[in-house]
Amino acid sequence: MNLNTHIVGVGGYLPERILSNEELSTMVDTSDAWIRERTGITQRHILAEDQQTSDLATAAAQQALDDAGISVHDIDALVVATTTPDMIFPSTASIVQYKLGGKDFPAWDIQAVCSGFVYGLAQVDGMMRSGMFKRVLLIGAESMSRIVDWTDRNTCVLFGDGAGAMVLEAKEEQGGMIGSVLHCDGSYRHLLMAEHKYEGNAPGKKVDFRVDAAGVAAVEMKGNEVFRVAVTKLSEVVGEVLEKYEMSKVDVDWLIPHQANIRILKATAKKMQMDEEQMAVTVDKHANTSSASVPLALNHLYRQGKFESGQVLLLEAFAGGFAWGANLIRWSK
Ligand code: ACO
Repeated sequence: MNLNTHIVGVGGYLPERILSNEELSTMVDTSDAWIRERTGITQRHILAEDQQTSDLATAAAQQALDDAGISVHDIDALVVATTTPDMIFPSTASIVQYKLGGKDFPAWDIQAVCSGFVYGLAQVDGMMRSGMFKRVLLIGAESMSRIVDWTDRNTCVLFGDGAGAMVLEAKEEQGGMIGSVLHCDGSYRHLLMAEHKYEGNAPGKKVDFRVDAAGVAAVEMKGNEVFRVAVTKLSEVVGEVLEKYEMSKVDVDWLIPHQANIRILKATAKKMQMDEEQMAVTVDKHANTSSASVPLALNHLYRQGKFESGQVLLLEAFAGGFAWGANLIRWSK
């Protein structure tokens, strides 16, 4: 039996609060013009104080389930790609399972920062083709606003919160996932990171965890160095995934890139010789939502009814690690 992984449901969620560039300019020394010109971002969504990553994930997942016309009880695995989990443990996936009203099926998180969803799709596709699961909920969800230093203009202007989700189903029919390529090069790990600060704790010491070892982390980035490597690696990876699956640029109908910077998106579209109309752009309204950005960008086009059966979608992402990758999908929904 030859199984293929099909997308049967798509969903997204953005928290209500919008933080505009203008409002941000009253907090740090920046301007709407600088942010727009360098990144293409005009605003970002910020989760409420009483929301957590699992709440964003649950809302996106419920929309994807509704879109697939099924309930959580029809699911046999749930995976959350996140770099901003509710807690160190349990996994955000287990919390989302509970909030959706599910039980018993396996649930786990994966962490590949902004490439988390692309990595997740590759991982789940392999498991589904092997017959391990029939229907999987894959979610990318982030509360980046919780880990950015809101006094650092180099990073705080870049990120936003949100979640995107897909219901995947293994079927014998042709179509769905074509395949993926993934990469990581840890020698770049210091250029983009958020360190845990568990200082002071060791056997024999008494630490007040709420004060001394709160695990507070903030994003640190060497922006222009990340930019240079991102453009090169993304150009390479789109070529590599096409070559691996014996396709060419003209076969791709839609480019769904990770949304970090409009200049990086345009460079990849140029390399693909694609019109910008064939590319999902949400960075202007969402900023960089890390692992949520690819499924949110896909959801954005899907809600506009853009995809036709048989069309080819190319998803790609670049992230801290550095970890990067791409997925090819033949739309079959
Ligand atoms: N407002 C005004 N000025 C600013 C701001 C700001 N918000 N931020 C930086 N500047 C200043 C800098 O201080 C610098 O000033 P100086 O020349 O006086 O020192 C100047 O602007 C230029 O700074 P650069 O960092 O060189 O600006 P650049 O054109 O490279 O743009 C940016 C910065 C937007 C961060 C860009 O480098 C970028 O997008 N990098 C890639 C980000 C990315 O792809 N990340 C990967 C995914 S994220 C993840 O995995 C979590």
